[in-house]
Amino acid sequence: MPSEKVKILMVCLGNICRSPTAEVAFRHEVAKRKLEHLFDIDSAGTGTWHIGEKPDSRARAAAAKRDMDLESLQARTVTPEDFHHFDYIFAMDAQNLSDLKTMQPTSSKSNIQLFLTWPDKEGGQNGYQEVPDPFYSNEDEFELVLDLVVAASADILDHIVDTHQLA
Ligand code: 4NP
Repeated sequence: MPSEKVKILMVCLGNICRSPTAEVAFRHEVAKRKLEHLFDIDSAGTGTWHIGEKPDSRARAAAAKRDMDLESLQARTVTPEDFHHFDYIFAMDAQNLSDLKTMQPTSSKSNIQLFLTWPDKEGGQNGYQEVPDPFYSNEDEFELVLDLVVAASADILDHIVDTHQLA
């Protein structure tokens, strides 16, 4: 049994649509497997516009339909400490990935990856290599975001359980 939790940070631009949805979807997948005690899961944004806000109401509504609760989350930005605390930092899109790699201190050991393609899904989830930004779109796009992050969470959790010998 490992002594340390596996620490995972989901990152998008605003931390009000995609990354909070990914945080809760991943947590939901972890809870299904009764592994909550082994994970520390959080989310943050590379932008500063929405600090302190709840997730977007459309994201909350879409998640609630699948028994996922985003109500208590509050947007925050990525901090330098995140690069020392988290084992894995998952970027929702390629711009987030590039921004995170630019911000990463040289002493950081965080494994920074694109959420929909890691570890071995070069083709992505259902053909998507990035989680589309739903902010200027409609409810259907929020459903798509959920489909993608739920599928990626299951695949990534399988891989982490395996490589960290959690089960
Ligand atoms: P998110 O979506 O990165 O998935 O949280 C966005 C939220 C806000 C903005 C852009 C994307 N914005 O430009 O304010």
